[in-house]
Amino acid sequence: MHISWKKLAIALAILPFVVVLAAWIGFFNVGASSGHWKITEWFLHLAMRSAVRTYALAVDVPEALPRHAIQPAAGHFARGCAICHAAPGEPRSPVVMRMLPQPPDLAGTVGEWSDAELFRIVKHGVRFTGMPAWPTQERDDEVWAMVAFLRELPSMDEATYRDLAYGERLGTAAGATETLPQALADCARCHGEDGFGRGPAIPVLAGQSEAYLLESLRAYAEEGRASGLMSLPAIAAGPQLWPDLAKHFAALPATQPGGSGDPALVRRGKEIAERGVREANVPACLGCHGRQDRSPLYPSIAGQPAPYIETQLGLFRAGKRGGTRFGHLMANAAKGLIDDDIRALAAYFSRSAAPSATATR
Ligand code: HEC
Ligand code: HEC
Ligand code: HEC
Repeated sequence: MHISWKKLAIALAILPFVVVLAAWIGFFNVGASSGHWKITEWFLHLAMRSAVRTYALAVDVPEALPRHAIQPAAGHFARGCAICHAAPGEPRSPVVMRMLPQPPDLAGTVGEWSDAELFRIVKHGVRFTGMPAWPTQERDDEVWAMVAFLRELPSMDEATYRDLAYGERLGTAAGATETLPQALADCARCHGEDGFGRGPAIPVLAGQSEAYLLESLRAYAEEGRASGLMSLPAIAAGPQLWPDLAKHFAALPATQPGGSGDPALVRRGKEIAERGVREANVPACLGCHGRQDRSPLYPSIAGQPAPYIETQLGLFRAGKRGGTRFGHLMANAAKGLIDDDIRALAAYFSRSAAPSATATR
């Protein structure tokens, strides 16, 4: 067949206008009731899977998934994901079943994806589907915690899930956070009734300086401190409840740190805490954190879980840990730390007793 190149060129040139005209007169049905055409569905799936696969190539996968942080990830899943994706014992709502595309029950589908692919989907979300991105792009550690949780999901029974996501006060916190008792029940899902934290990824709130707790809640809600896990509960509680929440946790008795660590590591940590690392411009930590007359915005570090301390120091060093208006002081202090210092400091502070000094309030 003889093709007239000229005619073909003209046809191609006017095609975009035809498509726009068709869209303008309402030719394309954007209603979700009738589903996609088979070909559209095929194409969208192909595009989504291929994009995830390709972008996942650039993801740096950690040696081991952070299983120690599964608890807060489960707590977040219960509020931020289960409504669309179901959870053990909690089916998707009938409303969600009519979404297009329908969010899958993840217990049945996570096996189809690699760790890097899950990371990519959870961090960035999926356009045109309603699947949201992680609330902050600064916290890869939190996204990995969610991936670690998702890996366990297919084999997780209802009791285990409910314990991880809701803790002891099963059912009392049905999502509402309007009154102080409701908000406290929400906090307890991750921080425990005693404020000690339900696992090593959670900071101890019990006995912490009230001013620091209050300003930290504000920082999470106003994005001065990036955390997808904490921004949701801080915003849900709201500024009118923050002062009472801070007062409540500050008044609880502090933890009694215990356990033995590698003595050499603890010794090295103590040395840095007391004297700093002169050649790397690391100041003595206790110069700020150990003083009785310190500002109430300098938190107590003693007795915090080692993994939590390590994460926070890593974030400060990378310039990703905001905080209160004094946060920049700490970012400076952490700049010169190497990984071994961080491990040693975490070992030392997690085992040292909370300073009898409650800072001046
Ligand atoms: C508003 C509903 C909604 C919420 C909330 C939501 N998602 Fe999704 N998610 C979706 C939809 C819709 C898809 C399907 C995308 C597709 O098929 O292309 C999806 C896809 C996924 C996938 C890929 C699964 C697969 O097999 O296709 C993962 C993993 C996932 N979501 C994890 C999460 C996590 C973790 C959260 C909470 C942090 C979350 N989602 C919150 C709607 C949601
Ligand atoms: C889904 C789990 C979860 C819930 C629910 C939760 N938290 Fe948190 N909280 C965390 C995690 C994880 C962190 C550490 C976040 C980070 O890396 O900055 C944290 C950190 C904090 C901090 C900062 C402490 C410090 O030492 O810097 C405060 C204050 C806090 N939470 C208060 C609350 C209050 C008050 C509530 C209830 C309204 C609450 N949290 C609910 C998981 C949770
Ligand atoms: C100049 C004073 C100063 C020095 C020196 C200092 N810090 Fe801090 N540190 C702070 C302040 C202020 C904060 C609170 C940051 C914020 O606003 O959230 C903080 C926060 C922290 C936190 C986070 C606590 C939490 O609950 O999230 C850790 C961990 C910490 N410091 C450890 C150290 C270590 C280890 C050293 C020594 C290498 C050190 N700090 C030196 C002022 C200091």
